[in-house]
Amino acid sequence: MEWDSFKSVFIAIVIAGALVVGAFFIQAQRPDVATQQPSPEMVKATGKCASCHRRETAAIVEEYERSEHAKEGTTCLDCHQPQDGQESFDHRGFTLAKSLTSKNCSQCHAEQNRQFLRSRHAAPAWAAVQGSTDFSREQIEFAEKYHGGAVARPANKLAQLEGQAATEVGCQGCHNIGKPNPDGSIGSCTQCHGRHEASVKLAREPRTCGQCHMGPDHAQIEIFEESKHGVLFETDGDEYNMDAEPEELTVSDMPSPTCTTCHMSGQEGLSVTHNVSERLSWYLFAPVSEKRPSYAENQAEMKQTCNNCHTAQHTDRYFEDAERVVQATNEKVNNYMSIVDSLRAEGHLTPTPFDESLEFEIFDYWHYYGRTAKHGAFMGGPDYVQWHGNYELLSRFVHLKEKAKELRSHGSSD
Ligand code: HEC
Ligand code: HEC
Ligand code: HEC
Ligand code: HEC
Ligand code: HEC
Ligand code: HEC
Ligand code: HEC
Ligand code: HEC
Repeated sequence: MEWDSFKSVFIAIVIAGALVVGAFFIQAQRPDVATQQPSPEMVKATGKCASCHRRETAAIVEEYERSEHAKEGTTCLDCHQPQDGQESFDHRGFTLAKSLTSKNCSQCHAEQNRQFLRSRHAAPAWAAVQGSTDFSREQIEFAEKYHGGAVARPANKLAQLEGQAATEVGCQGCHNIGKPNPDGSIGSCTQCHGRHEASVKLAREPRTCGQCHMGPDHAQIEIFEESKHGVLFETDGDEYNMDAEPEELTVSDMPSPTCTTCHMSGQEGLSVTHNVSERLSWYLFAPVSEKRPSYAENQAEMKQTCNNCHTAQHTDRYFEDAERVVQATNEKVNNYMSIVDSLRAEGHLTPTPFDESLEFEIFDYWHYYGRTAKHGAFMGGPDYVQWHGNYELLSRFVHLKEKAKELRSHGSSD
């Protein structure tokens, strides 16, 4: 063979090879699951939906196609068809549910739903804003078994004062993670999971939790980002195997933790849970923190997560320090509140909540600064223990004492 023709044959082979490899990559990146699934059900349901929705709502079909659901053959209709108790509507030859709830997911993921219902993410989260009125008697009884006093309570006073328009988009925008649905189920799984994306990778991202767990009253995402864990994740996280199967997750998949590693994941054989309350030993959100009823068990479980990566001595020392911050904060809040109580008893404050500017300061004392100090101590945020926490606790205590002196020198208000 002449050199020139050998060269052109060689080039042709290289080009053909590149095309095959290229086509394979395009195929691998953009699997056309919706319209090319082998199963007849998939073609019948998803294929039809996708043939229109690729035009109408392209992003949704795109997200779906990347999801575990598409790979496993879960169709559009599997999720969108009405379950017991759901309103429906006719849509291009299909009957669809008017709105989807955790019930649509729990038909296939009953165990995750069972665990979720035992957490404070379920009924207690909604009751924290709206009180118990939206729940059935059975729902209240069930949740009260796990979280006494967290559901059988009145609507939140601050929410009522701010009004419905503010509450619906504000408070409820986060607390609807546990909203009771008209079909009898509770909450929404897609607060953490994507509606169409469905991956454990998304759920394990700290930002997923940070959608709600942020700001001065529950600065968990800010504290995490300040912590060594947060910095490690920021630096190396893109090399972690965030997609690892929940039952098989190891420290080599994720050698430093995100929120979910400590609160939910089953790293190294620890059981994975959708009950975020399961590993907590204190009620840190409370004005004065008390131990939870299952303090010892819960704390042992959390420590087990730490001990997958640290020595037991390191973990125990860390918890002892954090618990000392809890005790010290309790003392500060108690001292502050005893002045508040005496001002109330002496008639310098009305019994009506939030009708005097001092009451906002009182609320901020424990709700912002006390909580922040406690959360910082448990999740590695010294700046939150100190400048956003204890410094404010001290300066505001001084301010209250001055204010009390001033009020007492003016005699009774009203
Ligand atoms: C013939 C085209 C077509 C088919 C087939 C189709 N859709 Fe749609 N769909 C649309 C269009 C267009 C809209 C925008 C609103 C409208 O016109 O109804 C829509 C809207 C929707 C909505 C939003 C409804 C709302 O009230 O906000 C959902 C959910 C939906 N489709 C799901 C599906 C599912 C699931 C399937 C398959 C079981 C499907 N669609 C099949 C064209 C289609
Ligand atoms: C894993 C369950 C699941 C699957 C599978 C699924 N959806 Fe959805 N979809 C949802 C949820 C949840 C919502 C939010 C509905 C709500 O809030 O009432 C939604 C909303 C929608 C909407 C309205 C959203 C908007 O932003 O306007 C459309 C349209 C839609 N889906 C189409 C589809 C199509 C087409 C498919 C298949 C290619 C599909 N869905 C597959 C769960 C699913
Ligand atoms: C940005 C999201 C977000 C908004 C908005 C929000 N919350 Fe919360 N709320 C949370 C989170 C997260 C917690 C958990 C704090 C913790 O445990 O540290 C919480 C805790 C609470 C608690 C304490 C827990 C309990 O069950 O008693 C109450 C009460 C509460 N919120 C009421 C409200 C009210 C009332 C509003 C509106 C006036 C509101 N929240 C607005 C996210 C939010
Ligand atoms: C018709 C059954 C079905 C429905 C309905 C369904 N799923 Fe799934 N889902 C599956 C199957 C099958 C898998 C793959 C096996 C597994 O991981 O459990 C899966 C996997 C998942 C995963 C793990 C993905 C991963 O990366 O491993 C998540 C998260 C998930 N589903 C969330 C949801 C949510 C949220 C809903 C409701 C909006 C829902 N699913 C509705 C069948 C379903
Ligand atoms: C849609 C908003 C929202 C998202 C997203 C969210 N949470 Fe929450 N979370 C809340 C609210 C509201 C509460 C307070 C519930 C209560 O006690 O009233 C809460 C409470 C908690 C608690 C305390 C539970 C207890 O028993 O006191 C933990 C721990 C928690 N969340 C962890 C997480 C983690 C981890 C993620 C991410 C995987 C996450 N949350 C995502 C809203 C959210
Ligand atoms: C607070 C956020 C949050 C909420 C709410 C939530 N999930 Fe998850 N989910 C996660 C996290 C995080 C993981 C991955 C845990 C891990 O690291 O292994 C997960 C994993 C899953 C998986 C994969 C399990 C497996 O073994 O493959 C399914 C299925 C699932 N969730 C379904 C649901 C359903 C159904 C609901 C509603 C009842 C729900 N989730 C509500 C955060 C959440
Ligand atoms: C290194 C492990 C670890 C990481 C990472 C972590 N937490 Fe925590 N978290 C803890 C510990 C420990 C506590 C206190 C537990 C106790 O009460 O015994 C706690 C407490 C909490 C509480 C307080 C509940 C209450 O009683 O008020 C919430 C809410 C919470 N974490 C959410 C988050 C969120 C959201 C993230 C990510 C942004 C996160 N955590 C990251 C270990 C962790
Ligand atoms: C998935 C593994 C993993 C888990 C789980 C984990 N950590 Fe870490 N942690 C690390 C790594 C890695 C470092 C960086 C250590 C180094 O540089 O040697 C670190 C650093 C720290 C540091 C800062 C270094 C130091 O000693 O001052 C503290 C404090 C800490 N972790 C406490 C905890 C506590 C408490 C828990 C449980 C609530 C926990 N960690 C859970 C992996 C983990």
